[in-house]
Amino acid sequence: MSVVSVIGGQWGDEGKGKIVDYICRDIDLVARYQGGANAGHTVYINNKKIVLHQIPSGIIRENCDCILGNGMVVDPIGLVEEIKLLESFNIDVEDRMYIAFNSHIVTPFHKMIDKFSESKSKKKIGTTLKGIGPAYVDKYNRTGILAFDLLDHSNLNLKIQSKLSDLTSQYDNHDFDLKEIKDSLDKFKECCEKISKYIKDGFNLLHERYKSNSNILIEGAQGTMLDIDHGTYPYVTSSSPTSGGISTGLGFPGNQVNENIGIFKAYTTRVGEGPFPTELNDRFGEKLRKIGSEFGATTGRPRRCGWFDAVAARYSCKLNGFTKIALTKLDILDEFDEVLICNSYKIKGKEYSNFSEAQYYLNEVEPVFQHFPGWNESTYGKKSFEDLPENAKKYVLLLSNILETPIKIISTGPKRNQIISI
Ligand code: GDP
Ligand code: IMO
Ligand code: MG
Repeated sequence: MSVVSVIGGQWGDEGKGKIVDYICRDIDLVARYQGGANAGHTVYINNKKIVLHQIPSGIIRENCDCILGNGMVVDPIGLVEEIKLLESFNIDVEDRMYIAFNSHIVTPFHKMIDKFSESKSKKKIGTTLKGIGPAYVDKYNRTGILAFDLLDHSNLNLKIQSKLSDLTSQYDNHDFDLKEIKDSLDKFKECCEKISKYIKDGFNLLHERYKSNSNILIEGAQGTMLDIDHGTYPYVTSSSPTSGGISTGLGFPGNQVNENIGIFKAYTTRVGEGPFPTELNDRFGEKLRKIGSEFGATTGRPRRCGWFDAVAARYSCKLNGFTKIALTKLDILDEFDEVLICNSYKIKGKEYSNFSEAQYYLNEVEPVFQHFPGWNESTYGKKSFEDLPENAKKYVLLLSNILETPIKIISTGPKRNQIISI
């Protein structure tokens, strides 16, 4: 029996979907604890790409049941589309998916507010416009709609009416297209009805499975540097992707999690606004984006690219208590003469190696880079560490030393079997 978590160590899109899928061959239950349809986790089914947003990536393994935990904000419209997509791949979610009673529901109002705030704001976050922030606002304001509310239609209708009147009193007619909102409400209600059969006691399932020695995987979404408490606030998401979020987001004690696996790309990307100390606004950044196909899995936006930021990554290891690391997209560095690692930040002439000291001055950072020779040889699809070029091996070992955490998995391509397990 083991309980492992898979958590993004950087700014999201580290390849969590791929690693979850790989590990899930031996897993009975996979659970998500935070976020919602802002996530985009890419997995492959028989060489066909599929992007999951809310359903844990383990669903594509027949042996896995899934929980959408209480810490999530669930979008019924998106979820119905995702179920359909999976069905088109002959993957049946019936009897395998549990939505926690106390997860919160994203309504069309939340999406509208997200779009409105982003379009009017002078300090844009660059959100995914999936209504995530506004749904969590309602949760913390104690005015949210729970998944449990979907089980009682008349109660749900009352709550929707009350939200609609709040919206019309708080915003001007010019701010929203009321007709558009009313139209989307019909579809919303239809989807609420469709997903209601999945709203079940996920808490009990998780604890029963734990007691019966099942193998459980806890799938993080987003990444550590987007954490509402510990990330680059305010340019963060509205949940807790770090390991601390597991206890509250699933009602599962942190001390019962045996392994916390941190997922890191061999370089760094970020999508949306906010500071990014190692960002490359030059031909090297463009090259990483091109070779790495760095475009958002949810929004299609180009991802900002830069070298590996070891200052942020060390902070991430401490925050999450990573017991091991999965390093992804090593193959993307194959065609670089040199690879760089940022091991400290220089701010106003002073050098910092602790992220927490530098966190509020990130826009002033001059990254201090160490240069290493590249390998100029393909690592694509390699399956054993011994087969990697010498300089690639050195790069991996160096990162492991810098982060004081063993790198136990190396991903060398997007497909399930393009992986090295050490
Ligand atoms: P997630 O949000 O952390 O699950 O990551 P995304 O799915 O948003 O983005 C990761 C992208 O990199 C996806 O397109 C994956 O198919 C791809 N990917 C994952 N691991 C590797 C790898 O080792 N090599 C290559 N070339 N692509 C990878
Ligand atoms: P996965 O799980 C990368 C970013 C958005 C924006 C900020 C807030 O695929 O790694 P939100 O819509 O959450 O209010 O947006 O967070 N963001 C992500 N970036 N990967 C993600 O998920 C993300 N989910 C949100 O771009 O900067
Ligand atoms: Mg993603």
